[in-house]
Amino acid sequence: MAINNKTTAILLVVYTVVAGVIVVAELQRFDHQPTKADGSLDILVVGDWGRRGLYNQSDVAFQMGKMGDKLDVDFIISTGDNFYDDGLTDDEDPLFVESFTEIYTADSLQKQWYSVLGNHDYRGNVLAQLSPALKKRDSKWLCLRSFIVNSGIVDFFFVDTTPFQDKYFTEEDHDYDWRGVHPREEYLSNVLKEVEMALEVSSAKWKIVIGHHTIFSAGHHGNTQELVDQLLPILEANEVDLYINGHDHCLQHISSENSQLQFLTSGGGSKAWRGEFNEWDPNQMKFYYDGQGFMTLRVTEDEMSVAFFDVFGDILHQWSTSKYTHTDS
Ligand SMILES: *[C@@H]1O[C@H](CO)[C@@H](O)[C@H](O)[C@H]1NC(C)=O
Repeated sequence: MAINNKTTAILLVVYTVVAGVIVVAELQRFDHQPTKADGSLDILVVGDWGRRGLYNQSDVAFQMGKMGDKLDVDFIISTGDNFYDDGLTDDEDPLFVESFTEIYTADSLQKQWYSVLGNHDYRGNVLAQLSPALKKRDSKWLCLRSFIVNSGIVDFFFVDTTPFQDKYFTEEDHDYDWRGVHPREEYLSNVLKEVEMALEVSSAKWKIVIGHHTIFSAGHHGNTQELVDQLLPILEANEVDLYINGHDHCLQHISSENSQLQFLTSGGGSKAWRGEFNEWDPNQMKFYYDGQGFMTLRVTEDEMSVAFFDVFGDILHQWSTSKYTHTDS
């Protein structure tokens, strides 16, 4: 099937707020309308994957292909850590083909991919993955720092979370490529403002936010306190339905007790961290799996459902919610 996403990039519109003191650029938007007649949307979500097929990456890819075909997916989301261990060296790095093009080969996966950067991607040449040259090597690739996909009944907000984590700026054993991030305080405050503004003006029925890092997680990395403090209040204030991340190499679903917001980890694209699990309130922990796999997301006018699958294509967990707008008279 031909890529049919009518992706239109609306160029940056720059607003000058308070007489030029604070300049907030509006996030880049892509319009990706559902192709199914009923307006429903089917998506696959995978994270933490690029290892030349090793650590079951190829098995996960194979099952994604089967599921992608069955569901006739509209597009695929990558939650980051796209290329291990150190991102890409430049936009001609063979790793791009070896870990992406030659792995996700099923026809059903030749749809648009929307990817964010993970911390490992920042350890390479960060500009390489953002380079338009990669789209020429493989047309399904798209990776940006923070951006929006408008898809009829649902808006997706992709957030560049790596620069939020303090420890990467003091760590001595790894180098990060912070080009485009400095000055950091300004970068972070702009990202938060842009996301908040975009959420506020969104009229979509469903709002989904994607970032590489966890907000809440019982896995190896655990919570990301910087995001709990800075991003979470914005998501809660704007009635976001899902926050989807990678970073912890597991599959996980944590719910909130006081809002509809659900925290979903799809970080099982290759090397998994067996046996890593920290105690969590059982009322909130809906599901945790320390092996490999991926997530599916289905959104219709009235319902949203997610499911997690393992390397055998077996379903591990399923959850759904509904939102009816009809007014009965
Ligand atoms: C691949 O997946 C199987 C099934 O979950 C698991 O037993 C095996 O350890 C995995 N291999 C690697 C290298 O992670």
